[in-house]
Amino acid sequence: MSRRLVRLLPLLLAGLAMSAHAADELPRVVTKDGRSALFVDGAPYLMLGAQANNSSNYPAALPKVWPMLERLNANTLEIPIAWEQIEPVEGKFDFSYLDALLKGAREHKLRLVLLWFGAWKNTAPNYAPIWVKSDNARFPRMRTSDGKAHYALSPHARTTLDADKRAFTALMQRLKADDPQNTVIMVQVENESGSYRSARDFSPEAQKLFAQPIPQPLAAKTGKSGTWSQAFGKLADTAFNAWYIARYVDEIAAAGQAIKNLPMYCNAALSDPFGPAVSGGASGGPDWPVIDVWRAAAPHIALVAPDIYNRDPKAYAKYLDLYARPDNPLMVPETGNAAEYARFLWPTLGKGAIGFSPFGFDDTGYVNYPLGAKELDEATIEAFASKYRLLAPAARAWARIAFEHRVWGAAKMEDGGDQSTTFGRWKISVQYDLWRFGERDWTWIKTDPSPTKGKPVGGALVAQLGPDQFLLTGSDVRLRLDDTSGGNGMMLRVEEGHFDAQGNWVFERVWNGDQTDYGLNFTGTPVWLKVTMGTWK
Ligand code: DGJ
Repeated sequence: MSRRLVRLLPLLLAGLAMSAHAADELPRVVTKDGRSALFVDGAPYLMLGAQANNSSNYPAALPKVWPMLERLNANTLEIPIAWEQIEPVEGKFDFSYLDALLKGAREHKLRLVLLWFGAWKNTAPNYAPIWVKSDNARFPRMRTSDGKAHYALSPHARTTLDADKRAFTALMQRLKADDPQNTVIMVQVENESGSYRSARDFSPEAQKLFAQPIPQPLAAKTGKSGTWSQAFGKLADTAFNAWYIARYVDEIAAAGQAIKNLPMYCNAALSDPFGPAVSGGASGGPDWPVIDVWRAAAPHIALVAPDIYNRDPKAYAKYLDLYARPDNPLMVPETGNAAEYARFLWPTLGKGAIGFSPFGFDDTGYVNYPLGAKELDEATIEAFASKYRLLAPAARAWARIAFEHRVWGAAKMEDGGDQSTTFGRWKISVQYDLWRFGERDWTWIKTDPSPTKGKPVGGALVAQLGPDQFLLTGSDVRLRLDDTSGGNGMMLRVEEGHFDAQGNWVFERVWNGDQTDYGLNFTGTPVWLKVTMGTWK
């Protein structure tokens, strides 16, 4: 052995031991001082996700999934695994799809979020096996208020819960055996649970429960008491449905976690964020009016998460506000894949989200317009890919920064108006639809409108690294930093750079002159800037 190697050996061994240890560590969601991070391999991880289409969950479809994830620069694939495919015959399990999925993900250096399509998929039992769907004596459907059969499965049937749980735990057992490297980092339990067109089950068993006082943990969480109607008024049917669906889901999650303790979450079909707090979405799912109910009922669920298919930037911002709570880490597990949604990545991360995942990204040719894109053309893919390209190498660094520092983000509103926030003495302003040179009030020279004018692009992301130091990025935006203390604030140094694999800042160049005289101007291709502010006298 050479001398050099002998000297390096202890270091190498220590490094190996560290990485072995980290890889052993199960993914988990950690909240500290009101900020959250998804820890993967022992360190914060930012999920730059994409969700495949609903029926892409077969080995034959996977070759149409991987290339799209690569084009997007995504680091995580969200993809369904359906009860019907793992247990087509009761008690006989088939995990060939899971095996193909794990293998493909590892080959493509991707992490996975598995979406358990069990008793509820967009509220319906369509992904349950035929032996479940067609045996409604054993697996009863809800009853409407006039006693008719309703399409959704009832959360009150122990038989359904036991069967769903058995399949889910078989899946978790398989994961425990076949995924020691934690390729799967999170599991979504059910998909957009709840029920449409009937707020809850009105079967005789459900009616009996509905007449009882609300459960103690819910009373403690909300400060409410009495029966469901007394405690929740107009929201009573939805809150009741939410409680029992969340308890059902929690029992499944707990059983799965007893086998392999992965973070689990539930996604929500959303009602109008500005409407009254009654569920206009899927009643009983983790919709915003009943987040409290879900948090009280489902302690094994790390978070409830909004599926945001609303292109109105005000509504988008409101949903982020509603779900980013001290008791609920923010993650956007689904959002539209039309180009205009891409700018919402900035305010999502600015609210401290642990992940973001536009829906319907694969090459199967299916599109879910009007929710998402009409076509996955180059421009649509690039709207997301350009941002992920910047963030992917920095995903660990950003996740750590957002876990430790105050962050903020914004996206262009419909009127293109300015936005701002303050960090200590510094006011950060965000402006849209400006050329990269000159000011809005210049009249001495004729200027064409900016090419982004009227277009739904533009947004910014900020982290405060120290009292006078900021990490900035954004797309189609101008950022300004102003001193609000009455002093003469100035930009001391504006560095463009990137993050290396260890999360260290790598300096590339200094911005000055035209690049800083008219604010900090970001094009459609974002870059990182580290800005140090100071004062002159
Ligand atoms: C939300 C659901 O969670 C998805 O599975 C999918 O059905 C979309 N809606 C619509 O494409």
